[in-house]
Parts: sequence; structure tokens; C-alpha cells
Amino acid sequence: MKHSRKLPTAYYNWLTMTGAYISSVSLILIMLFLGVNLLFDLAPNPYLGIILFLVLPMILMFGLILVPIGVIRTNRRIKSGEESGHPPSLKIDLGKPSHRRAVQVVGFSSVILLFAGTIGAYQMYHFSESVAFCGTTCHEVMKPEYVAYQHSPHARVPCASCHIGGGANWWAKSKVSGAYQVYSVLTNNYPRPIPTPIENMRPAQETCEQCHWPNKYYGAQQKRYNHFKYDETNTAWPIDLMLKTGGGDERSGQNFGIHWHMNVGNDVEYIPRDDKRQDIAWVRVRDRNNGRSLVYEDTENPLTPEERDTLEVRTMDCMDCHNRPSHVYKSPDKSIDLALSVGKIDSTLPNIKSIAVAVMDKEYTSESEAHDSVASGITDYYAVEYPEVLESRHEDITNAIATVQEAFSQSIFPEMKVRWDVYPNNLGHLTSPGCFRCHNDRLVATTGQSMATECTTCHSILSQGSGEFAEVASTPSGLDFKHPEDIDEEWRETLCSDCHTGVQP
Ligand code: HEC
Ligand code: HEC
Ligand code: HEC
Ligand code: HEC
Ligand code: HEC
Ligand code: HEC
Repeated sequence: MKHSRKLPTAYYNWLTMTGAYISSVSLILIMLFLGVNLLFDLAPNPYLGIILFLVLPMILMFGLILVPIGVIRTNRRIKSGEESGHPPSLKIDLGKPSHRRAVQVVGFSSVILLFAGTIGAYQMYHFSESVAFCGTTCHEVMKPEYVAYQHSPHARVPCASCHIGGGANWWAKSKVSGAYQVYSVLTNNYPRPIPTPIENMRPAQETCEQCHWPNKYYGAQQKRYNHFKYDETNTAWPIDLMLKTGGGDERSGQNFGIHWHMNVGNDVEYIPRDDKRQDIAWVRVRDRNNGRSLVYEDTENPLTPEERDTLEVRTMDCMDCHNRPSHVYKSPDKSIDLALSVGKIDSTLPNIKSIAVAVMDKEYTSESEAHDSVASGITDYYAVEYPEVLESRHEDITNAIATVQEAFSQSIFPEMKVRWDVYPNNLGHLTSPGCFRCHNDRLVATTGQSMATECTTCHSILSQGSGEFAEVASTPSGLDFKHPEDIDEEWRETLCSDCHTGVQP
């Protein structure tokens, strides 16, 4: 028997053999899958990708590791006389056919494996950065982010461009935390909703600024905000704003407007009291050119010395305002306004805004439960309050129900407990404090000034209201804000977001 062996004795042990077997089978499977993939040009499939670029290569490596372990163990045994056979020899004797074959086998397979391994590693790298992998692998977990992303201005920007970046260091970091995430998903141990701010999100300089030139001057932008009131006729109340976006750099001399914060010549630092960075207690602005430094402190509830020492000081970047560039979970108020403004819901249906927002606002445990309840809620409402409308406008009501269900599925994810109010949007100030986290009367500098709060600092109102209430500005400074509902001057004293929470105020 022994004489028929083609390789040195030490290769003939169960561990090495099993290892060789495992790795050959997985190599064949990889080749097979790759071949099928190339021949039929399959659509990118995350599950095939995982098997092809993660699971099989791992099994292959495992098998390969077993081979030398087996050899070493057997050699030890032979040495200690536990097993008969040739004494171990480190000499490679190319005169012996068995040694020659061993060298050939090892050399040949090393070259193939190195080659396959390099291609595999490269493919694996690409695959693990792909939108398919990030967005759909852990289907339930990433569903809110993936769905919202597909309806965002960044739908064609790969997840990795914002979440992972160039450089081996960040890549390794993201894979280490990624491995932990996979583990939490497998053990069903992940938080719902996923907490933000994301702790090791890379700074904007390495993400957003790959594509958006921070020194770019944007000028002012006109934007229309379509609102509908919660009354029987769903009165339209559009507001046209001229947003003073601005920006620029020292060279052009243009550095004002909202993008003044864009870290061109200034550092703005702040200390938030809470994890969500909504309660800001301290702000420092430093002008890097002339060294001017100004500290704003919370006059109602100043930071204690311990808080000052322990709380994190954060330097403001793009994501402190644009924290929802891609995962925009619209509030029911906003979703329905949007549907009414484009005519997907017929605004002549009595009270449709009010009832549509109300059915979206309920707490549900699953998407299908929500869909059922949206349908029955709207139908029942019309059956009781407007039976003649239910009778005569069946199609409009059916369309409205379908649109509300669709709006729900795009922005609310009961399974992951994701809603608009879980992830406050810091860009404006209507449904969360946003800009007013800093621009308020509470934060005051030693000089006595606070950050600007006049309504015209950030935008001017070009027009507001509709029909007999419509007002159009005749001067560049715009109109004084007129609150659509008579609430006296309450809107000057109270934050908009104290009343407007994304549903009927
Ligand atoms: C344009 C940049 C951008 C793109 C593209 C992007 N994200 Fe995000 N993502 C963000 C920002 C910014 C946050 C919020 C960070 C924070 O608040 O700390 C975020 C937050 C998240 C969160 C935390 C939970 C949440 O909803 O806020 C997850 C999970 C996530 N992204 C996954 C993805 C996935 C999966 C993709 C691709 C399908 C993707 N992201 C694409 C910028 C992006
Ligand atoms: C890989 C390139 C890329 C990266 C990275 C990127 N963006 Fe964008 N962004 C774009 C493109 C392209 C558009 C224009 C989309 C359009 O006009 O439809 C855009 C549009 C925008 C807009 C305008 C949105 C609107 O409503 O029209 C904002 C704001 C923005 N990006 C912020 C960010 C922020 C903040 C980050 C970092 C978290 C970021 N972007 C990262 C490519 C990128
Ligand atoms: C102080 C808050 C704030 C910061 C910081 C900030 N932005 Fe903006 N940005 C805004 C606002 C507000 C708008 C306009 C309002 C809107 O689109 O709703 C805007 C508009 C934009 C637009 C769209 C401009 C256009 O003409 O369409 C882009 C792109 C953008 N920002 C990118 C960035 C990038 C990149 C950074 C970081 C270098 C950044 N922003 C930092 C508040 C900010
Ligand atoms: C972390 C605190 C902070 C937040 C949040 C913040 N700002 Fe500011 N903002 C400042 C500071 C500090 C100044 C400068 C005050 C000074 O000059 O002392 C400033 C100044 C401004 C200016 C005046 C720039 C000029 O021309 O002099 C505008 C406009 C502005 N902010 C808009 C916004 C908008 C819009 C938002 C929300 C999207 C916002 N800010 C959010 C801290 C903040
Ligand atoms: C520090 C800057 C800043 C100040 C001060 C400010 N706003 Fe705004 N406001 C914004 C920004 C930025 C947006 C745009 C938000 C967006 O595009 O989502 C906005 C949006 C709005 C909107 C449209 C809201 C929507 O989502 O439909 C109204 C109305 C408005 N502001 C009224 C006011 C009034 C009234 C005041 C004075 C009490 C005021 N703003 C003060 C920055 C500011
Ligand atoms: C004291 C509570 C309160 C405050 C503060 C407040 N609102 Fe309102 N707002 C209401 C009520 C109540 C309505 C009427 C809702 C309805 O029945 O149509 C309303 C309606 C509106 C509407 C039209 C309908 C809608 O919901 O879209 C807009 C736009 C609006 N408010 C903007 C603002 C802005 C901007 C601010 C901050 C500058 C603000 N509000 C502050 C209570 C408030």
C-alpha cells in the first residue's frame, strides 16, 4: 500500500485529506457559480454574492488551513515514534518521485490559489461595498434605509460613498463593525430602530466633500412648500421661500448666508447634552483668519463644570444640518401634502388631509396591519360622515387609499420601529428644532448677543397662502410671515416644532 502513495507519508492523514477535500469541493463550486454568473449574466443577487464571495471562500480557506496542520501533526507523531513511516525530513529531495510530486502539487496549487484568491478578494471587496449587499442583505434590518434611499436625491450614490470610504483603515474599521452587525442580525440582537447619530460615521470632508465642493457658492434658491390645511376643503396654503443658501470662500470674498457654517474660514463647535444632538448647551465660533472667538452659553440651564469636562465637543460639518440627505422619512403631514399637491389624492374629497394623516399616525405592528387599517379607517370615515361621497366617488376614495398605503410604506416601518419622529431632520425648523437648536434666545454670548433669530436671516417669504388670502411680496425683503391659522403671535414665542410634530397640530 505504502509504495503506491504519490506524496510524502505525512500528507496521508485524515485532517489533511479532509482539508484538501473541503477546499477542492468549494473551489469547484466557486468556479461553477462564477461560470453560471458569467454565462447567464445574472442580475446582482445579494444571496448568490454572499455565497460566492464570502461563504465559499471562507470554507476554502478553512480547508486549506487544515492541510498543513494535518501535515505538521503527523510529522510530530512520526518523529516521536507514535506512528511508523519515514522519519521527518526537512530536506526536499527532488530525486524522489514522491517529493517531486509534492513540490509540483504544492507549487501548482499555490499559484492557482494565489491567483484565484487575489481575484476573489478583489471581488469580495467590491461586493461588500455594493448597494445590493448593504441595502438588501439583511433585508428586514436595512429596509427603512434602503427604501428611503431609493426615493432620495442620492438614490444613485452607493451606500459606501457616504458610509465607508477610501483607505484601508476605514475599510477595516467598517468591516470589523460590519462583522459585529452581521452577528447581531444572526442572533436577532440588533436595536430597533438603529440608533443615530452613527458613532463612527466618517467626517463630511471624506464623504460629502468627495462630490460637493465645500467652497462652492450656491447663491439663493427659491423653494415652494406646499401645505394643505386640516379643514373640510383641504385649503391649499403654499409658501414660496427664497433660501439664502450662500457659501463661498475667502478668495471670492463670498462667505455668507446659510453655508457660512461650511467650515471654510470658520470653526463652529458645540456641546450637545443628549445623544440625538437636539439639546445644545454651548457653542463656540472661531474665525481662523483673525482669531476671533466667541462662546455662546445656555443661560437657562448652564453646563456644570463636570458636564463641560465629560461631554463631547463636536465640530459642525455638513451632516449637522444635512443629517437626512438620503434616508428621508417623511411625516404623514408632509407625505399627504405632497400627494395632494401632485394630484395623487383628490383634494376635493372632504377632510381627506385630516383623515389620511390620522390613519398614518396610529401605532402599528406590521406593514400589512397598517395597510388594512388605512383602508378600513378611510372607508369607515366616509361611510359615517359622508355616505353620499362614499357612494358617488368610489374611485377617488380607492385611489386615495392606495396612495396613503404607498406613502406609509415609503416612510414608516413598524417592524423596525422607524418613523419620521425617530430620526429628527435638522435642516429646517418646522417639525424638529433644527436650526433653532442654536439660533434661539437661550444661547447667549458674553457680549450679550445670540445667534440670529429674525425670520429674514435665512430666507425671505416671496408669497404665501392661496385664493383670497394669497399675498405676494413686492420688495426683495419679502413678506412678514402670516401663520395660516389664527394663533395670535404665538408662533413668535413658541417653537414651530412644539406644535407641529408631523401630524395635525
Ligand atoms: C448621501 C450619503 C448617504 C448615502 C448614499 C447612504 N447613507 Fe446611510 N446615512 C447617511 C447619513 C448622513 C446618516 C445619518 C448619520 C447620523 O445621523 O449620524 C445615515 C444613516 C444610516 C443608518 C442609520 C439609521 C438611519 O436610518 O439613520 C443606516 C442603517 C444607513 N444609513 C444605511 C445605509 C444604506 C444601507 C445605504 C445604501 C442603500 C445608505 N445608508 C446610503 C448618509 C448616506
Ligand atoms: C458620490 C457623490 C455624492 C456624495 C458622496 C454625496 N452626494 Fe449629495 N448629491 C450628489 C448628486 C449627484 C446630487 C444631485 C442630485 C440631483 O440633482 O438630483 C446631490 C444632491 C445633494 C443635495 C441637494 C438635495 C436636493 O434636495 O436637491 C444635498 C443637500 C446633498 N447632496 C448633500 C450631501 C451630503 C450632506 C452628503 C454627505 C453625507 C452628500 N451629499 C454626499 C452626489 C453626492
Ligand atoms: C447650517 C446648516 C448647513 C450646513 C452646515 C451645510 N448646509 Fe448645505 N444647505 C443648508 C440649507 C438650509 C440648504 C438649502 C435648503 C434646502 O435645500 O432645503 C442647503 C443646500 C445645500 C445644497 C443644495 C444647493 C443647491 O443649490 O441645490 C447642497 C448640495 C449642500 N447644501 C451641500 C452641503 C455640503 C456639502 C455641506 C458641508 C460642506 C453643507 N451643505 C453644509 C444647510 C447647511
Ligand atoms: C451648532 C449651532 C448652529 C446650528 C445648528 C445652526 N447654526 Fe447658523 N450660526 C451658528 C453660529 C455660531 C453663527 C454665527 C454667529 C456669529 O457670527 O457669532 C451662525 C450664523 C448663521 C447665519 C448668518 C451667517 C452670516 O451671514 O453672518 C445664517 C444665515 C445661519 N446661521 C443659518 C443657519 C441655518 C439655516 C441653520 C439650520 C439649517 C443653522 N444656521 C443652524 C450656529 C449654528
Ligand atoms: C436660522 C435660520 C432660520 C431662521 C432664523 C428661520 N428659518 Fe424658517 N426655515 C429655515 C430653513 C433652512 C428652512 C427650509 C427647511 C427645508 O427646506 O426643509 C425654513 C423653512 C421655513 C418654512 C417652510 C417650512 C416647511 O417645511 O414647509 C417656513 C414657513 C418658515 N421657515 C418660517 C419661518 C419663520 C416664520 C421664521 C421666524 C420666526 C423663520 N422661519 C426663521 C431657516 C430659518
Ligand atoms: C401654538 C402652536 C403653533 C405654533 C407655535 C405654530 N403653529 Fe403652525 N399651525 C398650528 C395650528 C393649530 C395649525 C392649524 C392646523 C389646521 O387645522 O390646518 C397650524 C397650521 C400651520 C400651517 C398650515 C397647515 C399645515 O399644518 O401644514 C403651516 C404651514 C404652519 N402652521 C407653519 C408654522 C410655522 C412655520 C411655525 C413656526 C414659525 C408655526 N406654524 C408655529 C399651530 C402652531
